[in-house]
Amino acid sequence: MLRDNIVESILGKTTQKRKSRIPAKLDFLQSATGLILAIFIIFHLLFEASILFGKDSMYAITKMFELDFFIKDGSPIFISILAFIIFVIFIFHAFLAMRKFPNSYREYLRLKTHAKLMEHSDTNLWIIQITTGFMLFFLGSIHLYIMLTQPENIGPFASSDRVYSDVMWPMYLMLLVSVVLHAGVGVYRLIIKWGWLDGENPKKNRLKTRKIIKIVTIIYLIIGLFSLITYIKIGYEHRDNYGERYKVVSNEN
Ligand code: HEM
Repeated sequence: MLRDNIVESILGKTTQKRKSRIPAKLDFLQSATGLILAIFIIFHLLFEASILFGKDSMYAITKMFELDFFIKDGSPIFISILAFIIFVIFIFHAFLAMRKFPNSYREYLRLKTHAKLMEHSDTNLWIIQITTGFMLFFLGSIHLYIMLTQPENIGPFASSDRVYSDVMWPMYLMLLVSVVLHAGVGVYRLIIKWGWLDGENPKKNRLKTRKIIKIVTIIYLIIGLFSLITYIKIGYEHRDNYGERYKVVSNEN
C-alpha cells in the first residue's frame, strides 16, 4: 500500500490510469467468457435433450458433432477439439472469477449473514453464483476432461452406460443444478450490468428480465432432469450389454 502510494506520487497520473483500466478489462473479459459459456450451455442442454426424442435422434446429433456431413463417418477428434476450446475458455473464466471470491471462510459467512439479515436479493444472487461457481471448478473439469479424452464414448448407449453403469448420474445431477443456476444468475447479472434491456424504464424492465430468466432457468432444469432420467433408464436397460455401441438399424442393411 505504502509502496503503491510512493510509486503513484512519483509517476502521477500514469499509474492511476493503469490501475483503473486493468480491472475494467478483466471485468470485460470475465463477462465475455461467461457469455460464450452461457451460450454454449444453452445449446448443449438442448442437444443433450435429443435423447428425449429417441436414441436415433441423439445418435444423429452425436454424428453431426463428429462432422459426418463433412468427412465419411465423421471423427470423434472434432469433439475433442471442441472440448479443448471450451476447457480453455472455462479455465480462463474461472481464473478471472477467482478475484471475486471472498478472501476467507469468515468473510463468506459474514456475507451470508448479511444477505439473510438484509434480505438483499442481489447479494443472494451473488452467493448463489460463487457457491455454484466453486462447485463447477470440480464438476465441470471432471466432465470436460472425460469429453476431451474419450470423445468416442458418446452416443445413446455409450453415454447411458456412463451415466448408469459408471455411476456418473450423481455427478451429472449436481453439475446440472450448478451450471443452470450459475448460467441463469450470470446472464441476469450481465444484462443488468451492461444495461442491455434497460430501455425507457430500467426499473420495470429489470423486474421483467428477472422473471423471464427465472422461468427459463426452471424450464432448463426440467429439460435437463428429464434428459438425465432418460439416460439412466436406457443405461439400466442396457446394463447387461455394457460397452456395446448403438447402431442405426437402417444403416446396417
Ligand atoms: C465440448 C465440451 C462438451 C461436450 C462434448 C459435452 C458432452 C456431453 C454429453 C455427451 C453428455 C451426455 C452424458 C455423457 O455422455 O456423459 C453431457 C451431459 C452434460 N453436460 Fe456436457 N459436454 C461438454 C461441456 C459441458 C460443460 C462445459 C458443461 C457445464 C459446465 C456441461 C454440462 C453438462 C450437463 C449438466 C450434462 C447433463 C445433462 C442433462 O442432465 O441433461 N457440459 N455432456
